[in-house]
Amino acid sequence: MLEILPSILSADFARLGEDIHRVEAAGIRMLHVDVMDGHFVPNITLGPPVVKSIRKITKLTLDVHLMITDPDQYIGAFVEAGAGMISVHQEACRHLDRTLRSIQAEGAEAGVVLNPATPVSTLDEVLDFVDYVLVMSVNPGFGGQKFIPRSLDKVRQLVRRRQERGLSFAIEIDGGAGPANIGDIARAGVDLVVAGSSVFGTADPAQAVRDLTMTARDAVSFRV
Ligand code: DX5
Ligand code: ZN
Repeated sequence: MLEILPSILSADFARLGEDIHRVEAAGIRMLHVDVMDGHFVPNITLGPPVVKSIRKITKLTLDVHLMITDPDQYIGAFVEAGAGMISVHQEACRHLDRTLRSIQAEGAEAGVVLNPATPVSTLDEVLDFVDYVLVMSVNPGFGGQKFIPRSLDKVRQLVRRRQERGLSFAIEIDGGAGPANIGDIARAGVDLVVAGSSVFGTADPAQAVRDLTMTARDAVSFRV
């Protein structure tokens, strides 16, 4: 069943706790946390101390998306700070197999992320043990960008591979998701949808999450 993960990148960092509590009211299970280092992507956000503070005010699973040049160096710190899921970019990892296994060894779920220009085939050797694959539907670095429709082809390829190989990884999408495309996203087979500006950029973030969830579930339900 498709789930929405609000991305705090579009929240008000001066009122982060309040904003998180607002979306919790929509019954979500996970929160998406974007970590940017100013090297791998042209923007800087937050690090383990902020994750640790968020951990104290919510029981939601924290899905930490590392957009950093050297993820290996910080995995332990993010798990210790309270990350339950950690994703690393295929493009940032010289030893992707080792990095993903080290996330799992630290006790978190391991995800691998694909930039828009990176093909699904680059993941063939790790799909049998990753917990989730995150398909970037914008070039990472900023919230509020336009959804790249080709990303849905990659989602369909992943769905096919998962089925053919009898695997169970979840498929997540990140960037430009909102009311206009959530139906297509759901129909392509996405399990986890990250939504930043289409949630926190609205007057009622909890209602935005409920509306997105309902539209997505309607899109894939069969009516008789
Ligand atoms: C972009 C981040 C996203 C961002 C999405 O690099 O990885 O998680 O918050 O924001 P929206 O939903 O506004 O595109
Ligand atoms: Zn993200």
